[in-house]
Amino acid sequence: MTAIDWLALLHPVLMILFVYPVVGATIRLGILVREKRLGLTQQPALVPREHADHGRWLTAGVVVAVLIALVHAFLSKALVPGVPFNGGLPRLGLLLLVSLVTLMVLLVLLRAKRPALRASFGLLTWAGLLGLGAQKEVWRLSDDPLSGDFWASHYWAGVLLTGLLVFTLAARPEITRQLRWRRLHVVANLLVMVLLAVQAITGCRDLLEIPLSWQKPAIERCNVSQRRCPSPEAGAAAASPGSGAGAAVPHLG
Ligand code: HEM
Ligand code: HEM
Repeated sequence: MTAIDWLALLHPVLMILFVYPVVGATIRLGILVREKRLGLTQQPALVPREHADHGRWLTAGVVVAVLIALVHAFLSKALVPGVPFNGGLPRLGLLLLVSLVTLMVLLVLLRAKRPALRASFGLLTWAGLLGLGAQKEVWRLSDDPLSGDFWASHYWAGVLLTGLLVFTLAARPEITRQLRWRRLHVVANLLVMVLLAVQAITGCRDLLEIPLSWQKPAIERCNVSQRRCPSPEAGAAAASPGSGAGAAVPHLG
């Protein structure tokens, strides 16, 4: 694997190693908070705080992992030898700068206290992710909500999930204080749980579908709609002598 392939692994690995275990703990603690509030079980006084702190780590982990996926999408296109990056180095630099600023906005959100600041920095964090995700280097199955592919898209479910988590993080004091907000929080996070399952499925699907960087030239010769690739012999003939790319052409489906 090349360095860019290792960078591609960072997003799924962070999700599996850090985000999903924290999800489990956050959900369990959320249930305990509810049991405590309704007087169903005796719980330590720290449980609500622990739940919200786990929620903070969860949200921060998801935003960081998504930023890594987006930066990978840009760098993997910028580093293809012989193929110029659209907009050149200045645009690549700008995209990396916006990624960094989005990360800094998240850090400010984690510390902000006043409602207006929390709302603004929450919106800015999400806007940063949406702005970066809208670039054509970021692969999205479909941008048309009327097509089935849109609903199977790892990107769109991902930014919706991230938006809901950032909203929850920004509204943390209101959720603690007001029953109306707590109800909204529970409903929003039921959807988050469904989306987390969807992301696990579509993320693993994407891992199966995306070739390693050195396999890409061979995979690009495949006909996606017919799910057919050129035979290994044809692939070998088309590949430059000694490159070995032709031998790697698989038959999809
Ligand atoms: C999978 C994600 C989550 C689930 C399933 C979940 C679930 C819950 C549940 C069931 C409650 C108790 C509601 C009640 O008492 O009726 C709760 C409370 C709360 N949650 Fe979450 N939650 C999640 C994520 C988060 C996140 C990301 C944050 C933000 C940092 C957060 C902050 C809070 C706060 C502040 C409370 C109120 C605690 C209190 O009563 O003092 N939660 N959550
Ligand atoms: C909280 C859960 C997750 C969220 C919010 C999320 C979000 C995203 C986003 C926004 C992207 C960039 C857009 C794209 O390239 O499609 C992305 C890419 C990717 N994610 Fe996730 N993801 C999550 C979990 C996972 C998991 C569990 C895996 C696999 C085990 C995974 C595998 C991938 C892969 C392989 C890519 C690159 C796709 C590509 O380059 O087209 N993701 N993810």
